[in-house]
Amino acid sequence: MSHCIGIDFGTSNSMIAVYKEQGVIDIISSDSGKRFLPSVVYFKKENEVVIGDNAKSMQLLESEQTIANIKRYLGTDKEFEQFGNTYKPEELAGLIFKKLMMTYQDYSGEEDASAVITVPAYFDHYQREAVRSAAEYAGFNVLRLLNEPTSAALYYNNIGKNTGETCLVFDLGGGTLDISIIEMDVDSCSVILTGGSTEIGGVDFDIAVADYFIENFRSKHGIDLKSDPIAYQQLLFQAEKAKVELSSLNEVNVVVPYITISKEGPLHFKDSIDRDTFSRVTAPITAKIRTIIEKLLENGEMEIKDIDRVLPVGGASRIHSVRGLIWDMFNGTVKKDMNPEEAVACGAAVNAAMLKGVLKDKTFNDVTAHNLGIEDDNGNFQAILNRNEIYPVEFSMEFTTASEDTERVKVHILQDMARSSLNTSDSVSENPEQFVSLGEFEIETKASEESEEPTIEVTFSIDNSGIISVNAAHLNSGSKGDFTLRMTIKNESLNKIGIF
Ligand SMILES: Nc1ncnc2c1ncn2[C@@H]1O[C@H](COP(=O)(O)OP(=O)(O)OP(=O)(O)O)[C@@H](O)[C@H]1O
Ligand SMILES: [Mg+2]
Repeated sequence: MSHCIGIDFGTSNSMIAVYKEQGVIDIISSDSGKRFLPSVVYFKKENEVVIGDNAKSMQLLESEQTIANIKRYLGTDKEFEQFGNTYKPEELAGLIFKKLMMTYQDYSGEEDASAVITVPAYFDHYQREAVRSAAEYAGFNVLRLLNEPTSAALYYNNIGKNTGETCLVFDLGGGTLDISIIEMDVDSCSVILTGGSTEIGGVDFDIAVADYFIENFRSKHGIDLKSDPIAYQQLLFQAEKAKVELSSLNEVNVVVPYITISKEGPLHFKDSIDRDTFSRVTAPITAKIRTIIEKLLENGEMEIKDIDRVLPVGGASRIHSVRGLIWDMFNGTVKKDMNPEEAVACGAAVNAAMLKGVLKDKTFNDVTAHNLGIEDDNGNFQAILNRNEIYPVEFSMEFTTASEDTERVKVHILQDMARSSLNTSDSVSENPEQFVSLGEFEIETKASEESEEPTIEVTFSIDNSGIISVNAAHLNSGSKGDFTLRMTIKNESLNKIGIF
């Protein structure tokens, strides 16, 4: 039988794990010998890209031709121009998946690759579709998309670390934050609540520290390093390095020789940062994290004491002020007996083994992160399926039109709290950016003579990957409408690219 593959497609790093007999899980090394592949694409030429470590090291020298943090742009209209061609985020993600496919084929010698792919629990429909289409473009048969914190919990459960506990998985990666509360038993995991943000991750700490360095330099020399892309990229690198070192040191020094030139000649960048200063400059980020946790507990009518164990996941959960925050909040129930960078990929491999029948008698269920609903006549969001509902799920709703004269009615389907569970506005007209429009469609509502009120039945389904389908029927006339919410990657110039 083909392998049980799990893939963690990360903002910073991606990883492939394979579930083998007796529960042994292999992490496949990249061609540079590391257990992860940096999710960075460097366009060397029009039809030649380098992906991974070698691309990451080109970020300084050829920053214009190097694209990082692609996962952050999935589901947006952002386009990237390289050598006269434009690429969508999911297309660049498709190239990273192709590199992962090459790595897998090299390891296994097999062509067929069926995989469970993880996504942030907080990803909306289009972000999920972007990941699915990118993986399929690379030739993966996607068994399902699995939420990252759930995946980590499945791994934790599989290594038999717990029974009868309520766990809070705290997953802070390079670009996203997911927090899920999961009830775990010997052979089952049930997610009961989930929240997070796709706008909070390790990279935001880097930006805050780089801004601090830039401000210090500006007040000393009167020069704004942010306006120089190469200098800024160097400071982002140094900021990330400082952040990582501050997880084990109290203070770090930063030196970048010849960062810029003044009238008096070349200038070097020399600065230092200690833990207290780091905590201060990144306090707005940690404050948001705290609020997301508090709101999640409030939403589930839970208290800190209801959480038996906190499982930190994601490289950025190692940041000392983040550790401090969760340690403070949860009074020492934080456990470090799982590798935070590898748990997600390993859990996906466990799930692949479950789906392929290799691993039996284990179950789990998961919940939605967003409310699903429609825009009413006043421009407000009306939820029809609340978040934290178990999926897969299918349900129907009947709507009557406001006016009997209306011949056509518009149905605008939305997911709310886009990008962060802190976005809680109900007004679609005032805060359109806080809603993900899944599409609008009109259907004929001309009533037949014997009917009293024109009625539309809208059916929604959310599959086990969290991907939504919608269709509608006008019950009086029998006319139907549905819309396709699927993405496929079709880009001629993408197909010509050689990957190294
Ligand atoms: N020791 C450390 N201390 C602080 N931060 C760290 C440490 N090690 C890694 N990081 C940070 O963790 C982040 C990468 O973590 P990880 O590989 O889990 O993210 P990812 O899976 O790529 O992202 P995401 O899950 O958000 O898509 C980076 O921001 C990196 O700087
Ligand atoms: Mg991750």
